[in-house]
Amino acid sequence: MFALTGIGHLVTNDESVGEGKLGVLHDAALVADSSGNISWVGKQSELADHFEGKPTDVGGRAVIPGFVDSHTHLVFAGDRALEFESRMQGKPYAAGGIKTTMAATRAASDEALAANVARLASEALASGTTTLEVKSGYGLSVRDEARSLVAAKTATTETTFLGAHVVPPDTNADDYVALVQGEMLQACKGHAKWIDVFCDRGAFDVDQARAILQSGAAAGLSTRIHANQLQQGGGVQLGVELGVASCDHCTHLSQLDIEALAGASATTVATLLPTAELCTRSPFPDARKLIDAGVTVALASDCNPGSSYTSSMPLVIALAVINMGMTCDEAVWAATAGGAQALRRTDVGNLRVGSRADMVVLDAQSHIHLAYRPGVQQVGAVIRGGKTVVGTF
Ligand code: NIG
Ligand code: FE
Repeated sequence: MFALTGIGHLVTNDESVGEGKLGVLHDAALVADSSGNISWVGKQSELADHFEGKPTDVGGRAVIPGFVDSHTHLVFAGDRALEFESRMQGKPYAAGGIKTTMAATRAASDEALAANVARLASEALASGTTTLEVKSGYGLSVRDEARSLVAAKTATTETTFLGAHVVPPDTNADDYVALVQGEMLQACKGHAKWIDVFCDRGAFDVDQARAILQSGAAAGLSTRIHANQLQQGGGVQLGVELGVASCDHCTHLSQLDIEALAGASATTVATLLPTAELCTRSPFPDARKLIDAGVTVALASDCNPGSSYTSSMPLVIALAVINMGMTCDEAVWAATAGGAQALRRTDVGNLRVGSRADMVVLDAQSHIHLAYRPGVQQVGAVIRGGKTVVGTF
């Protein structure tokens, strides 16, 4: 058991206990039980009725739920710094860069892949991410996709089979789609919870994506999709048609796409990835318009060596507020409860009784400072499952 007290500003994401959508409490305290779940949340003046022993005093700082980063590609080897450098000199981003990472990933040992996942998962944890989704997608062969997922499993239970990232070089597209739906799916399904397809220019078209996602669902995987990153197309509407948990990127949306997402807001989240727009100099999607239309919006990092080589959810939040029209409250909700919804989880992304005791103690007075002070390290401590895993008190 442990307790935090002296919380000047506590974001619970529970509207029934505090102010607004973030359920904010002031001068608050919370208790976690021996299984690492929240057992009580309330006013610090009432803590003594709920906890015996010495609570940890955070000295008036803000506490928020740990970030839920619902979209990452951490299983890879090598990097693409030169591609980034030439992009900054005007070369456009294209899906084809994935093949460079494929070659490095295939050449890497299982241990090297797991070590890369561990390195980036610990980097993410240090910036407050306590729940992480991790995709395969740089192996693009039966063996390399399966071992990519084994590496992903070392860091998370939220593993995603993305054999349909691009068609590997010197391979017929129809043959590859059949492989992904057949032998590759059979080899990967035991290591994955989710299946994803990159449905875009230079990757897979809507019919191919539909076939792959339907095969994955028939094999027991839950579905998500990379859609409308590089151009408008049918990806988002396919995602809504199939009832995927999340349509990710949503950089180029038509009015019909927005209406489709709004109509599906209870089942399908639009996950926006502002660091991918930043690092590829793409237009930022208009999150304000999406939210006003009734779309459920999540935020994630898309951490990968090509389009978004950052794991920083605080940076994602700052961009969403400064460049995408989200309020500070909406951005923090989207990076916590929104990410949880994109993973169909209710036990993370909030600090309600019964949820995991996953939280970030900010070296700041409120969650507003995450956007207000972009690029500044404000993560004072990270607690996961009731244990302090980053920082000390
Ligand atoms: O989500 N869009 C597809 N996949 C990644 C990029 C992968 C890469 O460039 O290596 C993304 O941005
Ligand atoms: Fe991605």
